[in-house]
Amino acid sequence: MAKLIGGLGTSHVPSIAAAIDKGLRDTPDWKPFFDGYIPGQDWVKEHKPDVAVVIFNDHGNSFFLDKVPTFAVGCAEEYRPVDEGWGPRAIPPFRGAVDFSWHFIDTLVENRFDPMICQEIEVDHGIQVPMELFWGRPDQWPVRVVPIFVNVIQYPIPLPSRCYEMGRVLRQAIESYPGDERFVVLGTGGLSHQLQGARAGFVNPPADEAFLRDIATDPDKLAAMSREQYVEMFGSEGAELMMWLVMRGAMDRDVVVRHKHYFVPASMTGAGMIVMENKATSSPAVAA
Ligand code: DHB
Ligand code: FE
Repeated sequence: MAKLIGGLGTSHVPSIAAAIDKGLRDTPDWKPFFDGYIPGQDWVKEHKPDVAVVIFNDHGNSFFLDKVPTFAVGCAEEYRPVDEGWGPRAIPPFRGAVDFSWHFIDTLVENRFDPMICQEIEVDHGIQVPMELFWGRPDQWPVRVVPIFVNVIQYPIPLPSRCYEMGRVLRQAIESYPGDERFVVLGTGGLSHQLQGARAGFVNPPADEAFLRDIATDPDKLAAMSREQYVEMFGSEGAELMMWLVMRGAMDRDVVVRHKHYFVPASMTGAGMIVMENKATSSPAVAA
């Protein structure tokens, strides 16, 4: 039986990719940010997941406002990194976990979720940046991926509680999958940021710190919040944070936090990372 070995959360700010591409990793502005991810990179090296299910939103690169699926799941052999306007990036394409993707889509539909099914799609910084933050710049990604796209752009966006519920279905799909793969689930986006309107530039570090605590200890509270509360607390784009609830919903009620990192600002965003394991199956701590 396939197994869930951890839940990871991270921001996916596009300037992180630009900083890597431009060789800025060790500059004074960026080093404290990137150093905070070293324990997360060590964790994936030690625990060696086979499949990464990555929840993110497309940012007008593969879908545009003319067609917006609320939830979409990739079931492709390969996902090419989309060119977001600065030219192709030097990262390999992502290999799909096609069989599992179809199994997950089946499980979703059996549980009354009806996602868009994507057999061919390119993927933007929403997945590129998290993959680079945890796995660096390999010649080939050491995990296969299952992208889950959530609409957090075009209202009406889904309820936080619906994202949380989808996570429970994801867990059911992992545990009913007849393989021996080790799965990690990555929730991405946030933390607080607003890129537009009267509050452009808004960040809310105290709310971000509370989110990084509550996602582990009180996810029901975060799932019960309204979409409007997400926007008020985290900014219009910070509402992306509700996608972490898909990851959290896939985990047990009781988790162990292995690593956590918060840095502000990355670009105009509160940037955060967390690594969690289910308490019941948690392995000894990895040295930071
Ligand atoms: C920015 C874009 C994002 O998609 C995000 O999650 C955070 C920041 C940006 O353009 O600065
Ligand atoms: Fe984003």
